[in-house]
Amino acid sequence: MTSPTTTLDLVDTDPAELAVDALVIGVYSQDGTADQTTADGSSGTTPALLLATGAESIAVAFEGRLTQTLALLGATGSPGEVVKLATLGTIGPPLLVAIGLGPEPAGAAPAPETLRRATGAAVRALAGTARVALALPVPDDADGPAALRAVAEGALLGSYRFAGYKTRPQPGRRRPVASVSVHVTDAADPAAQAEVARAGAVCAAVAASRDWVNAAPNELRPPEFADAVRAAATAAGLTVQVLDEAALAAGGYGGILAVGGGSAAPPRLVIISYTPEDVAGAGTQSGQDPESGSGRPRIALVGKGITFDTGGVSIKPAQGMWEMKSDMAGAAAVGAAMLAIAVLKPAVPVTAYLPMAENMPSGTAYRPGDVVTMFNGKRVEVLNTDAEGRMVLGDAMARACADGCDYLLETSTLTGGQVVALGKRIAGVMGTAELCARVQASGDAVGEPAWPMPLPDDVRKGMESDVADISQVNASMDRAGHMLQGGVFLREFVSDDVAWAHIDVAGPSFHSGEPTGYWSKGGTGVPVRTLVHLVEDIAANG
Ligand code: BES
Ligand code: MN
Ligand code: ZN
Repeated sequence: MTSPTTTLDLVDTDPAELAVDALVIGVYSQDGTADQTTADGSSGTTPALLLATGAESIAVAFEGRLTQTLALLGATGSPGEVVKLATLGTIGPPLLVAIGLGPEPAGAAPAPETLRRATGAAVRALAGTARVALALPVPDDADGPAALRAVAEGALLGSYRFAGYKTRPQPGRRRPVASVSVHVTDAADPAAQAEVARAGAVCAAVAASRDWVNAAPNELRPPEFADAVRAAATAAGLTVQVLDEAALAAGGYGGILAVGGGSAAPPRLVIISYTPEDVAGAGTQSGQDPESGSGRPRIALVGKGITFDTGGVSIKPAQGMWEMKSDMAGAAAVGAAMLAIAVLKPAVPVTAYLPMAENMPSGTAYRPGDVVTMFNGKRVEVLNTDAEGRMVLGDAMARACADGCDYLLETSTLTGGQVVALGKRIAGVMGTAELCARVQASGDAVGEPAWPMPLPDDVRKGMESDVADISQVNASMDRAGHMLQGGVFLREFVSDDVAWAHIDVAGPSFHSGEPTGYWSKGGTGVPVRTLVHLVEDIAANG
C-alpha cells in the first residue's frame, strides 16, 4: 500500500547543463502587454511574461526568445499553469517546463505557498519522467530558507500517488517522478541540506497520512489501523501502547466503547510517546520526573479515528457516504505527525492519542437516548449517533489531561458545519485564544490555513440535558452553528489549566475534486504540517 518515493537533492551547477529529463523554471505574469498592437501594426511582440530568477542561463541559450516562445505556447504566468517546451538541443535537458507564479513579487521570491503549489503542479504534470531539476526563485537572502522549504515540499507532496488496489497496472498511468534536484546557489550549504532533510521527513509523514486516509475502509478497520500505526511508530523509534476493547472497558472509556460497539471490528486507543533524547537520558539522574521533560511544556496530540462513519443508528444518506472512509483523517494526521517528530527530534515531550472506532448500525450499536459515562466521569446524553467523533475524542482528551499536558492539540473531521462555514480549504479552530492564534500562525506558515471560531455560552446552554451532565448535540436538535457545538462539547473534557485547540478539518483533510497544486484526489495530509510546525514552535519558544 505504500507509495513509491521520490528522492530529493540539491545542485548548484548551471541548470542549462544538467543531465536531467526535464528542467522546470518559473514565469511571472505581467499586466496588459500581450495583445498590444505596436506602431508598425504587428501585434503580440511584447510577451506578457517575465522569467523568474533561476532561468537566466536558459534565457541566454534561447538567445532572448524564451519568453516569446513560451507566450506563443500559451503561457501567461498565472498560478497553476504548466507549459512544456521541447528544447531541441538548445540546453541539456530535452524538456523545459515553465510554471506560472502569478504577478512578480515585491521581494526576490513569491509567497511560499505559491511556490509550493506551482512546484507540486509541475511535478504532478511530469509523472512518467525519471529525473527532474527545478531552477526556481530560491534567493540567497532572508527569504531563501522558506522558499527552499516550499519548493522541496511542493516537489515531494506533488509526487505523491496512492498505490491503490488495481489487480493489473493501468495503461497510460505514469510513474511519479523518481528524482528531483533543486537548484540553489550553494548545494553544500548545511542549512540548505537541513531544509531538504526536513522536507523529506515531513512529506514522508504527510504521505503516510494520505495512504491511511485513502485506504479502503474494509482494509483499515480499527484493529488494522491500530496495527498499521503501531508498526510505523515503532519502526520510527517511538513508544506505542494499544488499548484493545478489554483494556478500554477496564479503563472506563465509555465514549469509545459506545461508538465502537456497533461494529464487529472492535475499537482501539493507540497511545504514542516521544521523549527528547536528553530528557530520556538525564531525567532520573537529575532527580526530575522524566515524564515531565525537565520543566519543558508537555504536548498532547489527539486525532479522531473513525475508520468509517455510517452515522450509526442515526444513519447517513447513501449519497457520497463512501467519503466517510476519511473520517479517521485526524488520527492519521496525528500518527503521521509523530513519525516526523521522531525524525526532527524537537526538545519537547509529545504524546499522541488516537481513538479508533467504526460507527455502524447493528444490534449492538449505541442509540439515541443512551446515557454514556465518559473517561472523566461525565455523563453524556446521546441524541444523534452520527455525532460520534466527540464521543471518542472526549475520552481521549480526558485521558491526555489525566496523563498531564500543558498543550492539547486535537484534530478531527468533526462537523459538516466546518465545511459550510469555512469551505474545503480552511480549517476551523476553537479553544484557548492564544493557542488558537498559534495554530492559525502555524497554518499560515505551512500553507494549511485555519481560522479561529468562538465557543459561545449560549451554545453551551443549548446543550443542557434533562437527564445527564451534557447533551451530545443541541438538545432541540438545532443545527445552527453546529461546528461550535462540537468545540463547546469537547471543552468539557479538557482540564482548566491546559491550553487547548480543536482543529476541525472536515473539509481540508480530503480533496474530492480534480488534482490541483500538490493535492491529488483523496487525502491531503492536512493538518500534519501544521502540527509539526507548532510542535517545533513550542519546542523553540515555549
Ligand atoms: N464525520 C462527520 C463530519 C463530516 C462531514 C466530515 C462531512 C467530513 C465531511 C461527523 O461525524 C458527523 O456526522 N457530523 C454531523 C454532526 C451532527 C450529527 C451534529 C454533521 O456534520 O452533520
Ligand atoms: Mn458522524
Ligand atoms: Zn464522523
